[in-house]
Amino acid sequence: MITVSHLRKSFNGTPVLRDVNATIAKGEIISVIGPSGTGKSTFLRCLNRLETPDAGSIVVDGVEVNAAADISAIRRKMGMVFQNFNLFGNMNVVGNVMAAQCDLLGRTPEAARRKAMELLDRVGLADRADALPETLSGGQKQRVAIARALAMDPEILLFDEPTSALDPTMVGEVLAVIKDLAETGMTMLVVTHEMSFAHDVSSRVFYMDEGVIYEEGTPDEMFGSPKRPKTRDFVGQVCLKKVRDVVRVLRTGFLADGRIDETEALLLLKLTEPFQDLGNGTIAGLSSLLRKMLEDGKISDAESCRLVGILKKL
Ligand SMILES: Nc1ncnc2c1ncn2[C@@H]1O[C@H](COP(=O)(O)OP(=O)(O)OP(=O)(O)O)[C@@H](O)[C@H]1O
Ligand SMILES: [Mg+2]
Repeated sequence: MITVSHLRKSFNGTPVLRDVNATIAKGEIISVIGPSGTGKSTFLRCLNRLETPDAGSIVVDGVEVNAAADISAIRRKMGMVFQNFNLFGNMNVVGNVMAAQCDLLGRTPEAARRKAMELLDRVGLADRADALPETLSGGQKQRVAIARALAMDPEILLFDEPTSALDPTMVGEVLAVIKDLAETGMTMLVVTHEMSFAHDVSSRVFYMDEGVIYEEGTPDEMFGSPKRPKTRDFVGQVCLKKVRDVVRVLRTGFLADGRIDETEALLLLKLTEPFQDLGNGTIAGLSSLLRKMLEDGKISDAESCRLVGILKKL
């Protein structure tokens, strides 16, 4: 459905995309991961021509996306959802979902409203149709933005870090909507730092670095046994952060709630201490390290039972 060949893009003489090649089939869910500044957004923006590539070709459904192409037709086919929602602040929720339907597709206001209400219902926001965006939470705004993208009946959806601007408590509701779309067979590319989402939902994962798709594979390959050094480093760092986040939540939240006691919190800290050095680890690395600690007697049977108990509370 999408074929990208030898895509190149520089900004002010600095190459960002050096040679990006990819083939994406209809219905695939691709997660795009990688360090900041490696061109993930630029790649997505080249696909629907929010950026003009310097060289290379992008073919969508047999049609070359180039200067001669009908860009508005391409953008209708390929919707995009941004980190910062980009809703129209002067229009209410239903108006936001209706606007492009009337302007670009020539639908009547009645038809556009019917479609908008259907989509708002789908993202769980039909009851907020008359609200102004400023009165919504971040998670709600992003769900409106998704409904707005869907109103164009796109065949492909591009998401650029759709949950990065959200309070952590709202990430789940937005990911649930995206997961739901994934099950409808929509083709999607999702730039994300949510690794468990990337692992559970994608058909393939692209790791971008050095101006190319440095490594790609199934989620199990990419998170379980990445082959190339930079992918291993990145996945390891992300794992480490996850462990730290869990520890922080436990200490600040669950300890304060009385869901775990001081001894349990201390045990968790002790167990996660070795991960501080795990620069090159992977998810498989983490679990084997934990197993090794058990084998080496660094944690006792009783402690490991307590750990299982703690994890069950999470
Ligand atoms: N319009 C622009 N003008 C100049 N430089 C740009 C422009 N857009 C992107 N860049 C530069 O290109 C590089 C890649 O940017 P890009 O936003 O694609 O990275 P990214 O992988 O999406 O990063 P992040 O994870 O931080 O969103 C960065 O160095 C950025 O500063
Ligand atoms: Mg980006």
